[in-house]
Amino acid sequence: MQNIAVIGYGVVGSGTVELFEKNKEEICRKIGRDCGIKYICDLRDFPGDKYESKLVKDFNVILNDDDIEVVAEVVGGVTFAYEYTKKLLARGKSVVTSNKELVATHGAELFEIARQNNCNYLFEASVGGGIPIIRPLNKCLAGNSIEQISGILNGTTNFILTKMIREQMTFEDALKMAQELGYAEADPTADVEGHDACRKICILGSLAYGKQIYPQYVHCSGISRITLDDVEYAENAGYGIKLVGTVKPAGNGRISAIVCPRLVPKSSLLASVDDVYNAISVTGDGVGDVLFYGKGAGKLPTASAVVGDIIDCLKHHDRHIMLDWEDCTDPSYVVPYKQTENSMYVRIKAADADAEDLKPAITELFGKVMYLERNGRPDDELAFITPVMVEAKLDDALAKLSESAEIASKIRLM
Ligand code: HSE
Repeated sequence: MQNIAVIGYGVVGSGTVELFEKNKEEICRKIGRDCGIKYICDLRDFPGDKYESKLVKDFNVILNDDDIEVVAEVVGGVTFAYEYTKKLLARGKSVVTSNKELVATHGAELFEIARQNNCNYLFEASVGGGIPIIRPLNKCLAGNSIEQISGILNGTTNFILTKMIREQMTFEDALKMAQELGYAEADPTADVEGHDACRKICILGSLAYGKQIYPQYVHCSGISRITLDDVEYAENAGYGIKLVGTVKPAGNGRISAIVCPRLVPKSSLLASVDDVYNAISVTGDGVGDVLFYGKGAGKLPTASAVVGDIIDCLKHHDRHIMLDWEDCTDPSYVVPYKQTENSMYVRIKAADADAEDLKPAITELFGKVMYLERNGRPDDELAFITPVMVEAKLDDALAKLSESAEIASKIRLM
């Protein structure tokens, strides 16, 4: 039975077809019946491609074919993919996706359409590439109240930071390499500025706490302003720099969520997660800490999650799997980050960083800070770590400091 279609024949789409065809016999045994890929939909031509005979350009061919039970949407974005997904689910065809932007933006609505039409919208590949995290969170850890989810959720930025730290590669060269390896988004700004990780932490938080967390309410900053100078100060003080997403309950039915680079102690497990690897730490009130680790991006790791979802849909044909959350448009559901507490690494530029009056002024603004050193520290530079403070107070102190010095960098501690 040719009952599967793939929309989008890029990195993840071609990986999905490759992995499915490679393991087809075993996959069909797991499903319990004969299954196969009938269509691959893409507007581009692929002359000479091994699966050229399956290629179609018109989405309606898939929509109108009653044989098709499940469709892998690996196009990305929230325009065409959103329309395709709604139409497919409304026809009772299950959809599986790696499209975190769509799940994070329209998840609640799409789950409801799937529920009404007795089909499924599954999204294991949307977070952590090949790492199983959605199903474990939804099933194995369902008996826990989730106290925190925190992790490295973007392979591209972790790859870039690793190359900068280990090989002193420039940011630009490392990004180019990540693009060539097929890790980065079509527009890598989403990786570099933290938007991709933000969508992923929103998906995990929505699943864990049952209400849609919209990315626009979550404070998000990326790695584009991190320099090799910051890396060196951090290294000397026993820290690595990682882009980390965190979500946790904040009391009174609200949650707090943030994505930002952080100084991570080298002794922590997250500090040793390098290259394209992701790691997600989940803390449950019963289980304690659980760490999920694996390749967070790339063709076959992501395809592994997509094909897993295809199998689940075909095993549960005509049966809705509960894997969803309800909508929540109340902006106050997410606590403003300025009300949260953090310790901050700060690097400043001042005409004379060793001037006698500068350090006392810093102490007056922040309290007792810890100064950091690096080889050949220029005379006009100073780096320090503040005590834990409410972010709003930290920002006030930084604003006052900026009257006499340039704030070159600020990075939160883990
Ligand atoms: N661009 C994403 C990343 C792909 O680098 O993690 C996987 O979601």
